Amino acid sequence: MTKIALFASGSGSNVQAIAEAVAAGKVPAEIAMLVCDKPGAYVLERAEALGIPVFAFQPRQYESKEAFETEIVGRLKKAGVEFVFLAGYMRLIGPVLLNAYRNRIVNIHPSLLPAFPGKDAIGQAFDAGVKISGVTVHFVDEGMDTGPIIDQECVRIDSGMTRGDVQKAIQRIEHNLYPNVITKLLNGFREEQTQ
Ligand code: GRF
Repeated sequence: MTKIALFASGSGSNVQAIAEAVAAGKVPAEIAMLVCDKPGAYVLERAEALGIPVFAFQPRQYESKEAFETEIVGRLKKAGVEFVFLAGYMRLIGPVLLNAYRNRIVNIHPSLLPAFPGKDAIGQAFDAGVKISGVTVHFVDEGMDTGPIIDQECVRIDSGMTRGDVQKAIQRIEHNLYPNVITKLLNGFREEQTQ
């Protein structure tokens, strides 16, 4: 089974969805580690309940991003992690992680990129009054939500929907789309390896 790591900073509903899909045998992976940069985050409670090993750290206790990413890479390699999936990890990935996992780091973003990159994409779309938004899964590069797009799905924002309604609709899509994309990527990876 391919070992993967999930990175999250917040509530972790995507972590939960991926872990449930793994447990149901829908995603051919073992979640070898959850990396979290916010020691009080709710995702840590979820990880404990799900039995996922955790590395939680305080970025400010390191002298630089290079320093904490070096520690993360060491732990990922030791655990045999082959792919990294960001699920609400609120931090730009630096060169140390990018070079160690080139084309192996994937992110999910709650808009149809390249529209509304960065923080509060749902609020940005809502405030702009767009009628279609959605979810993007993409490879991570050094930019903010700029890497090559792997898949997207759209959500209609009908008049009368609140921001909370839009968020719920987006999350419903995320919780299906991300496990599906992970499965396709890992199946492709395994085929490549057996050729
Ligand atoms: C998701 O909307 C994801 O697209 C974005 O951050 C949010 C994380 O939500 N990158 P959760 O912590 O998985 O509930």
